[in-house]
Amino acid sequence: MKKVLITGILGQDGANMAEYLLDNVALYPEGLEVYGMMRRTSNVNKSNIKAFENDPYFNLVYGDLTDGVSLDKLVKEIRPDYFINFGANSFVGCSWDMPLQVFDTNTLGVIRCLEALRKFKPDCRFYSAGSSEELGDVQYSPQDINHPIRARSPYGASKAASRHLVKVYRESYDMFAIHSILFNHEGVRRGEEFVTRKISKAVARIKLSIEKAQKFKPLQLGNVNAKRDWSDSQDFVRAVWLMLNQEEPKEYVLSSNETHSVKEFVSLAFKYAGVNGSWSGKGMDEKFKFLDTVLAEINKDFFRPAEVNLLYGDSTPAREELGWKPEISFDKLVQRMVHHDLDLLNK
Ligand code: NAP
Ligand code: GDD
Repeated sequence: MKKVLITGILGQDGANMAEYLLDNVALYPEGLEVYGMMRRTSNVNKSNIKAFENDPYFNLVYGDLTDGVSLDKLVKEIRPDYFINFGANSFVGCSWDMPLQVFDTNTLGVIRCLEALRKFKPDCRFYSAGSSEELGDVQYSPQDINHPIRARSPYGASKAASRHLVKVYRESYDMFAIHSILFNHEGVRRGEEFVTRKISKAVARIKLSIEKAQKFKPLQLGNVNAKRDWSDSQDFVRAVWLMLNQEEPKEYVLSSNETHSVKEFVSLAFKYAGVNGSWSGKGMDEKFKFLDTVLAEINKDFFRPAEVNLLYGDSTPAREELGWKPEISFDKLVQRMVHHDLDLLNK
């Protein structure tokens, strides 16, 4: 029986990872059991795990990355073969407001996971999600696994520190422990504070208001000229599983190998909702309009103290060596997110 413990189960990647494994249980004749770790919060949102919460091979367990006792206990009791750490405070934008909490969760949390495994299950394979945000003000494009760390946010720095820690444990204790550089990845389980979901939800709301001839508030955005390398999370979880099942613990970049601006995302999202429009104006006066109707505009509240202006990954080694290939294009991703949010509003 293979046992997989996943942190961050109620988030986007944790849920997609669990669903991917549960959908493929038949591939494991020796049996596969998935344990999803959630933390205790006062108002739990289980919407991301609705599809598989009652699956017989799925178990929901309590634990917290800020509490080493809980991680020790889970590792001792479950004795996982794989430990996939997708838990984090993952929102870059708030990491300036709570840098200590971000480091406690994203960096010390990784030490706590590694320590629990070192003490109680050292042969367990450990994966921790790293980030292209670690690369910061990038020096060259596209960025590969050798790009230097130049973090621009407390979040980026917390992930960079955790990357070093994973390497230290791998080399000091001979553990199968990897941290890979994940460029942005999205989907219908994406949190609403991230720009792609914020856009797809607002576009659905505006589309419906237009249909009903109701007044609406335009979508408010910060730096729309930032460029990101966006993929679909469902494509990434397949690659994470391949990485965990290599012979040797090698680290990779996962990316779409394309870069697009926030402006492009907005234009495409409105297009897939059947709303025409175009960008005009400069700086704070930039607007996305249809004739005289403003659909999206700039709001200084959404700018960050320091910005990562460009992310553009090179995942060639992951494609060549792991045999991984993303299936969902940028266009398809935008279309899926917008159609999903339109369906939710039309229900
Ligand atoms: P997400 O949707 O924000 O999910 C993060 C999960 O971590 C949430 O379920 C959250 O729990 C949980 N969490 C937060 N603090 C915790 C704590 N103290 N103890 C236990 N769990 C805690 O993020 P995601 O998009 O799935 O990302 C997964 C991982 O990949 C994260 O490490 C993220 O930093 C990293 N990453 C993501 C991207 C991306 O573009 N999505 C790119 C690079 C790296 P609640 O549900 O209770 O809030
Ligand atoms: N969130 C948000 N909201 N971002 C905005 C907005 C807005 O209103 N307007 C412009 N942006 C810009 C941000 O300044 C940033 O340049 C870009 O849109 C993407 O922002 P997010 O969607 O918040 O993602 P992120 O790139 O900062 O971080 C995500 O990707 C990282 C990997 O590079 C997160 O998923 C991180 O957890 C992940 O590590």
